[in-house]
Amino acid sequence: MTEEINTLPAKNRLPYIILITSVAAFGGFLFGYDTAVIAGAIGYLQVKFNLSPLMVGWAASSAIWGCVLGAMSAGYLSDRYGRKAVLIGTAVLFALPAYGSAVVNDLTSFIIMRLLGGIGVGAASMLCPMYISEIAPSRIRGRLVTLYQLAIVLGINIIYVINLKISQAGDEAWNIEYGWRYMLGSEVIPAAVFFVLLFFVPESPRWLAAQAKDEAAKKILEKINGKVVAQEIFAEISESLRDEKGSLSDLMDKKLRKPLLIGVVLALFSQITGINAVIYYAPEIFKSIGFGAESAFTQTIIIGLVNMLFTLVAIWLIDRAGRRSLLIWGVAGMIICLFATGICFHFHFDKGPWVLIFILGYIASFAVSLGPIPWVLMSEIFPTKIRGIAMSLATLVLWIGVVAITQLTPYFLGTFGGATTFWIFMVNAVIIWIFTLKKIPETKNRTLEEIERSW
Ligand code: GLC
Repeated sequence: MTEEINTLPAKNRLPYIILITSVAAFGGFLFGYDTAVIAGAIGYLQVKFNLSPLMVGWAASSAIWGCVLGAMSAGYLSDRYGRKAVLIGTAVLFALPAYGSAVVNDLTSFIIMRLLGGIGVGAASMLCPMYISEIAPSRIRGRLVTLYQLAIVLGINIIYVINLKISQAGDEAWNIEYGWRYMLGSEVIPAAVFFVLLFFVPESPRWLAAQAKDEAAKKILEKINGKVVAQEIFAEISESLRDEKGSLSDLMDKKLRKPLLIGVVLALFSQITGINAVIYYAPEIFKSIGFGAESAFTQTIIIGLVNMLFTLVAIWLIDRAGRRSLLIWGVAGMIICLFATGICFHFHFDKGPWVLIFILGYIASFAVSLGPIPWVLMSEIFPTKIRGIAMSLATLVLWIGVVAITQLTPYFLGTFGGATTFWIFMVNAVIIWIFTLKKIPETKNRTLEEIERSW
């Protein structure tokens, strides 16, 4: 076969695509890192700034409000200025406010810095999977986007350990003055690495094609797929771009109702089935059923490891078994484990290992289903011209779900108790299970353009 100079030899293509994907997935790492860092810092901040419970809430959640804003605007901006340029912007938004939040001396500045950092997280949370999906060869697209989810979980776990190490580096007084600053400031390092690496990745070929930059788009497609396949993909992309307009009003197009519904519902239910309640309140939950603080920390780490391990299982299965089967089996597992956890709380079997076992079963089931798959589907079900804004909308709903769960979980646990709280999550899981059966099509092994034509 005659290949051109700018086409990599076949054996180098996979390493190349994994490399680009890993850079984009790094955004996921920062997402996990940034949303989890506050858990370790908040206690010290509370003493340092003498915060009322209401203010603690603001200090902890300001970043998430920023995420809502970031998710909202990044789609439009990336449709207009390109995926790569806006991604570079998010890296700046990770780095500068991380530094800022570490050096401030008053609460207002702290909240503003966290809000700004949150905008970066929210923007990256939609841009990274979208970029990966647009660049990936279809037969491994699910796996590559799931790498992003793996990076999120890795980010959450690593900052837990870093927070612990920092808090052990000095006494209480030192932590109140400096500990939290190191925790928040530590993010500057991965953010700077992300910033530099982004300059080495190519622009998304699908975005380039949508801008009529055909030659540039072809060059990248060839590098990733080889000349022959690249030509086919390019023809397909141009064909499907021909009758797309790409304005906000296109979101109302009848053809788009189904993918929009699927994107938004999946985004919402990935949150209201309780994952972040379990991840972020795990130490509280374990303490409330009688584990000591040290063992509560160990359990949190175990939860993180199980989450990672089963995300690897998802990477292995997502392009073989497909998104639908994983969702159906995984969510069924979540339902059973949520029910069982509720039973443990209700009948006070909550002193032994059972709660931990069922919670781990829940995490494992989530990690193969509602963890990665919403990101995968959201990044592949929308037409190229409006993928940015449509994905923004779905991701925005996801972050509203995060806000709702973070605000409501302590209230639910306090007012209704553990059993009812877990059963509420279970009811939501049943709803999304039925929705999957009825509405979600299989998308594995199809190009983005084939998926688009199927609506
Ligand atoms: C998914 C969720 C995110 C959660 C993470 C945990 O990425 O969207 O909110 O923290 O999984 O594994």
